[in-house]
Amino acid sequence: MKALNIEASFDPITQKELEEIRRLKKQANARMVYVWPTGDGVLSIEERFELLKLALKPYRHLQAGSGKGSATVRLSEEVMESEQEVRTGRFHHAAAGIRGELVRKMYYFETALAARCTPHRAAHSRSVAAFAAHLAQVHHMDCELAWRAGILHDITKAWSKEEGERILRVYAPKVLEYPPAVYHSYTAPVFLKTVMGITDHRILQAIETHTLGNGHTDLDYLLYIADKIEPTRGYDTARETALAEKDLRAAFDLVFREAEQYRQKEN
Ligand SMILES: [Fe+2]
Ligand SMILES: [Fe+2]
Repeated sequence: MKALNIEASFDPITQKELEEIRRLKKQANARMVYVWPTGDGVLSIEERFELLKLALKPYRHLQAGSGKGSATVRLSEEVMESEQEVRTGRFHHAAAGIRGELVRKMYYFETALAARCTPHRAAHSRSVAAFAAHLAQVHHMDCELAWRAGILHDITKAWSKEEGERILRVYAPKVLEYPPAVYHSYTAPVFLKTVMGITDHRILQAIETHTLGNGHTDLDYLLYIADKIEPTRGYDTARETALAEKDLRAAFDLVFREAEQYRQKEN
């Protein structure tokens, strides 16, 4: 009874790769398969190895590690392409056992952002995340939660109007009454829930309410403020920032009023 070594980048291991590994095991009639990550990746070898261990846990005859002396097979480029899908935020393509871990560890959040937004929008999102985490720290709130909401809040901003309408017709038809600029705050939670597997309702609600300012929790206020006055916006927000560090609700009211005035002037 022989053993088989299988290597690939596994950045990260996908469901398609897992199925291919099981197929190769059967084809080679191998008793044991050792699976091993190689090459450079977004994640370090150690991080990818930990994910492999998690993904292979349910399978007694698949093991993360290398079996000395066994024949080595490299997964095809075509199968490995499925990893790219995961790195752009399609976490539902990751091996079933690691999807939750990707969200917990915030792996590939940055690559998903870069793949889905213009560089300008990605820089804005990073700035919102940093500013939101800063405000959370000042107010003794959960900094990581605020950072997550910030980094993900505009993740569907680049969707076309038609794409947004297609999703909203199913999930939130009432939103179609609003201007298309509002769509992304309602399509983002759908994408985050169904594709990335992010289920924390505090994050989803803060994102959903970040355009209209119709939220009512401290995190909702915080994200709304951070989105409007983060430093890359490029105007003087010293007064708003000072108020936001003191009183979130008061700062929200101020920023909301200012946004309203700006909108009226634009019209
Ligand atoms: Fe937005
Ligand atoms: Fe934004």
